[in-house]
Amino acid sequence: MNIGILGSGIVGQTLANGFLKYGHQVKIGTSDKGKLNDWLKNAGAGASVVSFNDAAEFGDIIVLAVKGTAALAVLEKAGSNNLANKTIIDATNPIAEVPPVNGVLQFFTDINSSLMEMLQSKFPSANFVKAFSCVGNSLMVNPDFNGIKPTMFIAGNNINAKAVVKEILDNFGWDVEDMGTAEAARAIEPLCILWCIPGFRENKWRHAFKLLK
Ligand SMILES: NC(=O)c1ccc[n+]([C@@H]2O[C@H](COP(=O)([O-])OP(=O)(O)OC[C@H]3O[C@@H](n4cnc5c(N)ncnc54)[C@H](OP(=O)(O)O)[C@@H]3O)[C@@H](O)[C@H]2O)c1
Repeated sequence: MNIGILGSGIVGQTLANGFLKYGHQVKIGTSDKGKLNDWLKNAGAGASVVSFNDAAEFGDIIVLAVKGTAALAVLEKAGSNNLANKTIIDATNPIAEVPPVNGVLQFFTDINSSLMEMLQSKFPSANFVKAFSCVGNSLMVNPDFNGIKPTMFIAGNNINAKAVVKEILDNFGWDVEDMGTAEAARAIEPLCILWCIPGFRENKWRHAFKLLK
């Protein structure tokens, strides 16, 4: 598949590497292509770096991996026509531009809203699926927990889009728990706050969630 990644940070690069590993073609979109010179040198023939608009146009599937405060502006640059009827894997978190309080991140959303719902309402013909937001980048692709698969919680309104994302997550070594429609992002996005607490308090960054049943 052709994967358009919106975001040049560590998440964009990590997920790009994951898709390249499984034989997909990847274009990373950024407003600053020079940032990715080093990444591009080692990424291989299936990789390139382009504008946000070109990455979105290219992708059969789009990954949104930009700063939460910039997500709407970047999607507007990507162009709503390039998002229509496509699966948008939304890895973003609505982290506010203020420091954590005793290791607890602050969000610019409240408990009865989510960034993904806001984006879904702005781009109604795109199929957003929340995924990858509740784990650190170093564990996103084939995390190694001694044979135990961690859980990736997903949510979104389109069943077919979620099936596509489930297949990707299966490849990337995750157990997938579908939490339902976009409103469930209100519960998934704050898992990022919980995930980061041991990091900020004890410099522990190598854990993931597991839903026991
Ligand atoms: N880091 C993690 O381990 C992790 C884990 C799970 C989820 N997440 C979430 O994934 C997303 C990406 O995180 P990240 O750590 O890779 O990097 P990041 O620093 O949060 O985001 C980098 C991207 O955001 C864009 N950006 C930043 N400020 C902007 C602005 N004012 N206007 C337009 N674009 C702007 C940059 O654009 P340019 O390319 O043009 O510079 C770049 O592509 C975030 O929402 C984060 O909360 C991160």
